[in-house]
Amino acid sequence: MSQTLKLEAAAGSTKMVIVGAGSVGTTTAYALLLSGLAADIVLIDINQARVEGEVADLGHAAHFTHTRVRSGTYADCAGATAVIITAGANQKPGQTRPQLVAANHALFASIIPPIAAASSPDTILVVATNPADVLTHAAVRLSGFPPYRVIGTGTALDTTRLRRELGAHFGISPRSVHAFVVGEHGDSQLPAWSLANICGMRLPEYCRQAGRAHDEAEMEACAKRTRDAAYTIIERKGKTNYGIASVIVAILEPIVKNADAIMTVSQVGTYAGVEDVALSMPCKINRRGAFQEVPLPLDERETELLRRSAESIRAMIMSVAA
Ligand code: 2OP
Repeated sequence: MSQTLKLEAAAGSTKMVIVGAGSVGTTTAYALLLSGLAADIVLIDINQARVEGEVADLGHAAHFTHTRVRSGTYADCAGATAVIITAGANQKPGQTRPQLVAANHALFASIIPPIAAASSPDTILVVATNPADVLTHAAVRLSGFPPYRVIGTGTALDTTRLRRELGAHFGISPRSVHAFVVGEHGDSQLPAWSLANICGMRLPEYCRQAGRAHDEAEMEACAKRTRDAAYTIIERKGKTNYGIASVIVAILEPIVKNADAIMTVSQVGTYAGVEDVALSMPCKINRRGAFQEVPLPLDERETELLRRSAESIRAMIMSVAA
């Protein structure tokens, strides 16, 4: 069967629900529509006029991919392959993600229970609302779903950003740079430099083979630009939407195709000795959800940085869970 037919077969019964018709939700709907991964896309928002306008507009694009796009209610989560949660306040210029925690946690307390109640036993929640790690933890607590069925977008976007920075530095495609950002989708994130590699060579070895200096300062500059990317973009355009929307679709693809793809996504667990916290590590993603099967052999410094990242997320969780 051709790849197209396989995709249409997979998409044939695939329904995705997107909660939140803001810029991230609608850009995700558009990216998902163009991907052909879903036969049905349902968009939910409290602003009925907005969601009807977005659905009407998206419907004219759906014409070209035989995708059905409509507005709906939480009842539409029944039979959904995934429910993507983008609803909530987003970062404004000068604002940090943690400053959104109180408002967005309160929103989750009102929307997650009805979403979970309407969902099917194999529906996966994908959480994009910030602060993504705290809200991934909240979505597990409020839905009662097992952790593997709640995937936070986490540092999947930061990993993409770091690979783009390193690809530009080394003059190779970002998709040929194997480097992960782990920890918080936020200021305490850390690149797993000890494991970063190109063609299977750690970066210092790659530089030796390429006859070039391994520039530690430039590596740190790449990491800083990655960590600050959202602030930089939001200062200029007031939001981010294309990167996160493409990352969400990249997370949905191995779910629809049951592909066992490895991505750094946020999941509730125990990290560097810190229990009951959500942060990003490489996870295998398939139709059942996300699974961390192989521990990442971070070095001592990275493990300490990860512990600090976990502690800072845990503190935010405690500040709202009380
Ligand atoms: C981003 O990193 C704002 O978390 C969002 O683009």
